[in-house]
Amino acid sequence: MKMIMRDRCPADLDRCVEALAVVHHTDGYPLNWPVDPHGWLSPAGLLHAWIAEDPGGTLAGHLAVDRVTGPCPMEAVTVSTSADPPTSRPAAEVSRLFVVPAYRRQAVGRRLLKQAQQWAGSRGLALILEVVDDGRSGAVATYEATGWQLNHLSQADWTGPGGEPVRLRHYRYPSQDDSGVTTADGERAGGMR
Ligand SMILES: CC(C)(COP(=O)(O)OP(=O)(O)OC[C@H]1O[C@@H](n2cnc3c(N)ncnc32)[C@H](O)[C@@H]1OP(=O)(O)O)[C@@H](O)C(=O)NCCC(=O)NCCS
Repeated sequence: MKMIMRDRCPADLDRCVEALAVVHHTDGYPLNWPVDPHGWLSPAGLLHAWIAEDPGGTLAGHLAVDRVTGPCPMEAVTVSTSADPPTSRPAAEVSRLFVVPAYRRQAVGRRLLKQAQQWAGSRGLALILEVVDDGRSGAVATYEATGWQLNHLSQADWTGPGGEPVRLRHYRYPSQDDSGVTTADGERAGGMR
């Protein structure tokens, strides 16, 4: 299905919250339903947000990019599982990525991530993200299928709905500064992944 990717505008927020509620019910994302879901989708450090919608205007997906304050966490704590050095460029963080279940496995998530990668690349920003480490989730599979590299694991400073500790996986998106060449799809040329 043809999908439209565009900048999110304030009038989209109610629909985004409705879609997020469906995703939370289906997938438990976010792990803890926010007290203020509109605010959660527009955190203080928000730099940009995109939505995907079908030709009929039904919301299919959402992704945001936030400012990373302080030193890039990838520099601060690096237990790298890849041969590449940690990023040393200013970084932004991909967040609030979700695709409504009816539109999954149609490359909506992949295309939203590509929007963020192009946006960050044109500003000289490295991209990082974190995701709950709950085994082979669709999110982890998506990041690993689109060229993101696992950098390290950590324990969140917040807990799950039952008060349980939460482990996070921290990823970085390889840039052309890294060894090897990165294509727009996040695939490393020459089989260097
Ligand atoms: C993660 C999520 C955004 C992926 O969206 P999507 O539009 O279905 O992903 P795509 O269709 O672009 O998938 C790209 C690739 O990732 C992999 N992938 C995606 N979902 C997968 C799944 N459930 N199982 C295995 N692989 C998966 C596949 O390799 C896929 O390519 P393919 O379909 O050609 O095989 C969606 O599953 C989601 O909204 N999950 C709940 C919210 C969430 O966890 N967000 C992440 C927060 S950090």
